Amino acid sequence: MYSIAIDGPAGAGKSTIAKEIAGRLGFIYVDTGAMYRAMAIYFLRKGIRGDDCETIASLCPEIKVSIAYDEEGKQQVILNGENVTPYLREEEVGKMASVSSAIPAVRAALLDLQRNLAASSDVLMDGRDIGTHVLPDASLKIYLTASPEVRARRRYDELRQKGIDCDLHQIEEDIIQRDKQDMGREIAPLRQAEDAILVDSSDMSIEEVVDTIISEFHKIS
Ligand code: DC
Repeated sequence: MYSIAIDGPAGAGKSTIAKEIAGRLGFIYVDTGAMYRAMAIYFLRKGIRGDDCETIASLCPEIKVSIAYDEEGKQQVILNGENVTPYLREEEVGKMASVSSAIPAVRAALLDLQRNLAASSDVLMDGRDIGTHVLPDASLKIYLTASPEVRARRRYDELRQKGIDCDLHQIEEDIIQRDKQDMGREIAPLRQAEDAILVDSSDMSIEEVVDTIISEFHKIS
């Protein structure tokens, strides 16, 4: 069984690249950020603040997140029986996920699910702590990053393409803030695992990043 861990900051292109590689290699793609986002939806619906650690920890036992795959093989996230996939990418959900994912009970609630998925099939899992914490023995670890300017520009272009009005400078500020939260938290912070290969995609096309990672995988498989 093979596992590929791809970690990196928000907007580095992890999910686009991970989906493509998983498809080419015939692996299951597991988007762990989506699981944190599903938990964030639960807290938002309850009207809880992301930094209210006590209430959030006390609610974790009543939250059940699971993963399913649709006919096209796309990951669907189920929150207490409801498919919440359509709401996962909302801006406020991402912001809440970045704050609530720093709470140990939230991380503990998802760890078994993530490890069990990797134990049952070849997986490509992306997130923040996959190589450092969730799958320390992953067959291949990649740390995928890009400069904040490039990440902001990509996000800006993506939103503009969808016809959403936005401010490049504000997006860059948000990205820098998100990096701070994800890298600065005490539990399982975002960092490059010692044995991870660094891929800086600032000046690379999607195709180049995909080919680089696949060739790294062929070296070890
Ligand atoms: O990758 P994303 O933007 O969907 O992730 C949303 C938030 O979830 C991110 O800001 C930090 C958190 N997260 C995490 O703490 N650990 C992971 N393995 C994946 C995401």
